[in-house]
Amino acid sequence: MAFPGTGKIWMNGSLVDWADANIHIASHVIHYGSGIFEGARCYNTPRGSACFRLDAHMRRLYDSAKIYRMEPKIEQAVLTEAVLDTIRANDMKACYIRPIIYRGYNALGVNPFPCPVDSAILVWEWGAYLGQDALDNGVDVRVSSWSRAAPNTFPTLAKTSANYANSQLIKMEAISEGYSEGIALDTFGYLSEGSGQNLFVVRDSILYTPPQTASILPGITRNSVITIARDLGFKVREEMLPRELLYIADEAFFAGTAVEITPIRSVDKITVGKGRRGPITEGIQRAFFDIINGAAPDTHGWLTYVYPGEPLEPVVAGRAHVAKK
Ligand SMILES: Cc1ncc(COP(=O)(O)O)c(C=O)c1O
Repeated sequence: MAFPGTGKIWMNGSLVDWADANIHIASHVIHYGSGIFEGARCYNTPRGSACFRLDAHMRRLYDSAKIYRMEPKIEQAVLTEAVLDTIRANDMKACYIRPIIYRGYNALGVNPFPCPVDSAILVWEWGAYLGQDALDNGVDVRVSSWSRAAPNTFPTLAKTSANYANSQLIKMEAISEGYSEGIALDTFGYLSEGSGQNLFVVRDSILYTPPQTASILPGITRNSVITIARDLGFKVREEMLPRELLYIADEAFFAGTAVEITPIRSVDKITVGKGRRGPITEGIQRAFFDIINGAAPDTHGWLTYVYPGEPLEPVVAGRAHVAKK
């Protein structure tokens, strides 16, 4: 995923060219990780371009700001509208959306309070994070030797740049050893999450996922999966899970904005289930993509359409063949 290097970036209320969207090297965020951000997606649906659960992402962004005592200069609703403006300004049909709020340039002590709370919105094209093959056939992962942050150290309910130092260690270790991803445990040894995605395990048709107290980022895709699974009649349990459940799982998968729903086919070189995407993972994947592809109605109101005149009328199968009176 290389950047296109073109288009407009929204910075503190103005649209600037990609090449000019710079901040000073003495900005607090560069030295102390004092940024909070979001990652959302806009999909090119048959009824128009639509952001998936944009309000939930913006709510988490402002929750993250609150945890870090940041007071954005712009209200949540205004920044949400700015996201839509930025997509329109770039004439994007589908894109990845990255709003970021960060401590800018004023002083370089650890104390962030003297530094301004700046914000920016980037959008760019970003396809399947782990590749299309991963969505279809699954990925090979390892349990990381790195743990997720202990409670009361780095708050994991905040999506802060600082937390991604830990994610980078998990990701680099996995890649250097030939795996696609790493799954981290929490500091008590229970399953937590991947470097940038939540984890689900299926056994005897019940879905299990680590709870909010297992040092996870409470993912919006995770929440969508729980909702979809319950809609489909499955039981979902959020509870502390032992590592070895991965090895005896019938199915396992990741959930996140970047990876969407990606099956896991092996952990630590132990085959998960039949070593390919399992039926429950496939069913949930299909239900998720059906909402995005317009094959199923958006009953939960998860889509925010971007352009005027959209959403277009739903495409009703066979309508063209209905004889007019
Ligand atoms: C550490 C971590 N966990 C989980 C997730 C999944 O969250 P979401 O589904 O909201 O993208 C992400 C992605 O942002 C992440 O970085």
